[in-house]
Amino acid sequence: MDVFVIEGGRRLAGRLRVNGSKNAALPLMAAALMSDQPVVLRDVPDLADIRNMLRLLAELGCHKTNEGGARDVMCLHATERSNSHARYDIVRTMRAGICVLGPLLARRGYCRVSMPGGCAIGDRPIDLHLRGMRALGAEVSMESGDIIVKAPPGGLKGATIFLGGTFGSTVLGTANVMCAAAVAQGKTIIESAACEPEVTDLASLLTKMGAKISGAGSPRIIVEGVAQLGGADHTVIPDRIEAGTFMMAAGITNGDLILENCPTDALLSTIDRLNAVGVEIEPIEILRPAGFTADPLRQVVRVTCGRVIKPVEVTTQPHPGFPTDLQAQLMALLTLADGNSVITERIFPERFLHVAELLRMGAKIFRQGPTVIVSGVRQLTGAPVMASDLRASACLVLAGLAAEGTTLVNRVYHLDRGYERMEHRLADVGARITRISEKDAGVAEASG
Ligand code: EPZ
Repeated sequence: MDVFVIEGGRRLAGRLRVNGSKNAALPLMAAALMSDQPVVLRDVPDLADIRNMLRLLAELGCHKTNEGGARDVMCLHATERSNSHARYDIVRTMRAGICVLGPLLARRGYCRVSMPGGCAIGDRPIDLHLRGMRALGAEVSMESGDIIVKAPPGGLKGATIFLGGTFGSTVLGTANVMCAAAVAQGKTIIESAACEPEVTDLASLLTKMGAKISGAGSPRIIVEGVAQLGGADHTVIPDRIEAGTFMMAAGITNGDLILENCPTDALLSTIDRLNAVGVEIEPIEILRPAGFTADPLRQVVRVTCGRVIKPVEVTTQPHPGFPTDLQAQLMALLTLADGNSVITERIFPERFLHVAELLRMGAKIFRQGPTVIVSGVRQLTGAPVMASDLRASACLVLAGLAAEGTTLVNRVYHLDRGYERMEHRLADVGARITRISEKDAGVAEASG
């Protein structure tokens, strides 16, 4: 297992490009199961979760056929259908494996997917996914920890489905139902659908493949079923969570970063809270050939922050509210604010494993249930800390960038699931950060 060694206190300055979105790419890859024609995806990040999804798709008969081609382009071709079982061994490493459920059911009328367990961010039920499948006429059963879903003899039938749950809508549940409904007979209306940009991106890929979908990005999605889907060529949207993480890295280091390929339009609540903190995000005008208009999901922005970080109140919410996937990183920034901030987590109320680690670096944080009060301190101090999930790891890296002295972030394999070459990209803009093995880290700690 690898460890990041961070020498804190260095101001970040320079240019970074935001990669394609992991959380958009995973359901897009699964959608390749729905056609016997190739699906080409561009700007796919090189991440552990993406490689795991490729492994899962290969087991299900859908292969990457452009090995050796451009690193971020993936041509996926579903050539055989003999295995429709997403095994526990793979799904347990990557909860997003659940997003093969809708595509497999749509194309093969049958699937067996290992029930994903909980994870470090809390319970992760899938009752809403299954409610959607049942509403389309599928029969759902459980066997040895696997969910088995079968289409009725006449095929799936469109229906009106309410997908809202206790904690709001479900992103991957909406993706699964949208995929299954794309080839069901008749019209499906998904009410209380997730409005996340990743759902909209999936709807655009499915539309290119021949599906008839309207309303994606709003709480009501309407799908008119078609007989079959073809191939498509699609560029993944930029990663709004990576962009937000870099914005907070600029904020916590009093930095000055230019972000390219920045999905500003998908980050309005984040930008609102960051502006309140004192982080400025300004679009940079670039000259375009006549006829080309700016894409609000692919902007160039300059991110700067003065020395004073102001305290804020923030509550995580489904999109377009403040994303739960940036809560931990914002908390790192607020540990250095000039006053008390309040963070309430409304999507995953247990997603606070980073709190205890921030305390080890000198932060002042008081948690009660889903609410945390962060009392800003003047300085964090470097310490060995343990990453527990993907975004908690990003939070600890940000804290390490600002802390006085050396921070060792253990278990960075969590970070590798969602941020490509994070240490190199941060080092390119001035961070002092290196990756070493756990064995060497033990030596560094003992001697340091
Ligand atoms: C997606 O997970 C993301 N994962 C998560 O990204 C993200 O945190 C989450 O959406 C919320 O934005 C991917 O896209 C691969 P949900 P998903 O179903 O779809 C409850 C990251 O760090 N719920 O929208 O699995 C659930 O418990 C991560 O990249 C039910 O009650 O999340 C939660 O409280 C991790 N029943 C809320 O809904 C269900 O059937 C939202 O979860 C499904 C969900």
